[in-house]
Amino acid sequence: MHPMLNIAIRAARKAGNHIAKSLEKADSVQVSTKGFNDLVTNIDKEAEAMIIESIKSSYPEHCFAGEELGVIEGRDKECQWIIDPLDGTANFVRGLPHYAVSIALKMRGRIEVACVYDPMRNELFTATRGQGAQLNNQRIRASQPRDLTGCLIGTGFPFRAKQHTESYMNLLTSVFTDSADVRRSGSAALDLCYVAAGRLDGFFEFGLKPWDIAAGDLIAREAGAITTDFTGNTNYLASGNVVCGNPRVVKPLLAKIREHANEGMMK
Ligand code: IPD
Ligand code: CA
Ligand code: CA
Repeated sequence: MHPMLNIAIRAARKAGNHIAKSLEKADSVQVSTKGFNDLVTNIDKEAEAMIIESIKSSYPEHCFAGEELGVIEGRDKECQWIIDPLDGTANFVRGLPHYAVSIALKMRGRIEVACVYDPMRNELFTATRGQGAQLNNQRIRASQPRDLTGCLIGTGFPFRAKQHTESYMNLLTSVFTDSADVRRSGSAALDLCYVAAGRLDGFFEFGLKPWDIAAGDLIAREAGAITTDFTGNTNYLASGNVVCGNPRVVKPLLAKIREHANEGMMK
């Protein structure tokens, strides 16, 4: 195994165990609001601090970009860890057991290793560039449907950007009409991993952040899926607009996005 993946896994498990432990004492979780419909807890922040400390003990010169603690510069500018300590905070604060720790390492501009850890199910999704993707050390592969018919598609609603509700709902109607069904799980990192594992046939969401996407994207691509932005290009880490799945699923999803998404959603 890639030595840096080992380090990522160790950090993800520590953070995941901390998140799971916090459930035993409800009063250990303090919730606050970061922005419109945007919650954060002390556990998100503590988990991120643990991940950084854990990785720094092996790689003290690396850089970090995390959701809660921001960018931390190190001397080695070629290595940056992209961290979402708790993807699915809205689920977590409500006791809905679907969330994960997401850690990716970007080296010279390219994501090299990734892990997403679901502490509730003890499921560890991992990937190293060029070496496939695993769930708990077993190789996983994305599904290979012929078209959207019969597909289960994951998505995320624009709950922080409700001005896009109408366009998004038109898009959703069209996807729902032509697929088998749709899921909105509340964790984009797990959605991408579920595409990797064939649990979902495809996924689309707009307005995500690099820490939501970076690890799950490598895992999905290493499992044979493709990821694009809403224009069919690969600028999704910057735009936050993601379509993922087998090319035969991504293509019709992109056509629907072209038809229904408004300009603000395409940015
Ligand atoms: C959120 C989750 C959710 C997605 C949001 C993300 P957070 O991450 O991934 O599924 O719809 O856009 O922000 O805030 O729980 O880390
Ligand atoms: Ca997130
Ligand atoms: Ca988060």
